[in-house]
Amino acid sequence: MTIKSIILVMVYLQTYTANGQIICERQMSVEWRTQPKHHIMKWTLMNNICSNFYTDCWNINTNIEMNILEQQALNVPQICPLQLQLGDRLFISSEASFQSHGMNLGNVSIEEFIRCPPKGFLQDQLIFGCRLRGMHQVDPRWLGVGTHYFAEVQTKGPPLCNLGLRLNVTVKQQFCQQSSKAPFCSRHGRCLSHVWEEAYNCHCSQHYSGRFCQEFDACSSEPCHNNASCIDRREGTIGDSYECACPSQFAGKNCSEIIGQCQPHTCLNGNCTNLTPNTFHCECDKDFTGKKFILFSML
Ligand SMILES: *[C@@H]1O[C@H](CO)[C@@H](O)[C@H](O)[C@H]1NC(C)=O
Ligand SMILES: *[C@@H]1O[C@H](CO)[C@@H](O)[C@H](O)[C@H]1NC(C)=O
Ligand SMILES: *[C@@H]1O[C@H](CO)[C@@H](O)[C@H](O)[C@H]1NC(C)=O
Ligand SMILES: *[C@@H]1O[C@H](CO)[C@@H](O)[C@H](O)[C@H]1NC(C)=O
Ligand SMILES: *[C@@H]1O[C@H](CO)[C@@H](O)[C@H](O)[C@H]1NC(C)=O
Repeated sequence: MTIKSIILVMVYLQTYTANGQIICERQMSVEWRTQPKHHIMKWTLMNNICSNFYTDCWNINTNIEMNILEQQALNVPQICPLQLQLGDRLFISSEASFQSHGMNLGNVSIEEFIRCPPKGFLQDQLIFGCRLRGMHQVDPRWLGVGTHYFAEVQTKGPPLCNLGLRLNVTVKQQFCQQSSKAPFCSRHGRCLSHVWEEAYNCHCSQHYSGRFCQEFDACSSEPCHNNASCIDRREGTIGDSYECACPSQFAGKNCSEIIGQCQPHTCLNGNCTNLTPNTFHCECDKDFTGKKFILFSML
């Protein structure tokens, strides 16, 4: 990699320090980027290690559901955990003073992440073909969808995994497109992932629904009155028709008419007067006759 391309690589993970304590910067909800990103992870113990799962590493104060293993990791010093989009590139940039250590990274299990990898770690789980020196790209084969744990595998010198040279990387995919060329969320929503969700999904704008926000929901404006239930006709993003299932004493498109009661144009040429809850009477204008009386329905 050339110097120029190294400079172009974007630094992703920012941290800030409060009273000497590292707190990882977090966004609780992230929108899918259409372009993959380069992340550089500084592989160093200097100003880079968070210790408390809640307050420092994830910067949250709510309790989340955890399995027994994860609970053991609540106070494991580690590099700020990372979340990537599938397709993002990850670079590990090792501190110069580590060069003499002959350090490598291993793809480890969650148990080995918590307890650090044992001596004689499997060669085929080493991330890099050579010892860590400067900047190395992590091969995408280690970054499939899911949570991965990488830890320092010591060859020479003191073990540093226990001090925090270990990394939790979660890779997420998106389910926001109906097909590979389709617009995200049918252009009627945002493709988002909350920090504890495993993938990106559509969050539809008002009046749209469906996994890809592909369905205009004509019922969202609540057009049916008088407790009638609304049935959206599934017509995709443009169709705006719906049907109201009216309770027995109501009628009309929106169930707003009381059966047997005066409606705006019940009496064609005259005034309408309600007589009883389901009968009415037309007071005809001069020159008109007729008896538009009793039950009337526009169904
Ligand atoms: C690793 O990160 C994921 C979220 O990306 C989290 O759910 C999990 O609990 C973390 N694992 C450990 C051992 O901290
Ligand atoms: C990385 O390690 C995990 C846990 O041991 C294992 O399930 C996974 O298959 C490994 N990944 C690769 C690409 O070997
Ligand atoms: C039914 O409601 C819709 C939306 O509120 C309105 O545009 C329409 O005019 C109403 N139709 C009738 C027959 O009341
Ligand atoms: C709608 O239904 C609720 C209970 O299901 C009832 O309390 C309410 O009075 C009803 N409203 C009308 C306009 O019928
Ligand atoms: C209908 O009502 C209007 C206004 O209240 C009134 O002027 C008119 O005379 C009425 N027509 C009949 C036929 O009663």
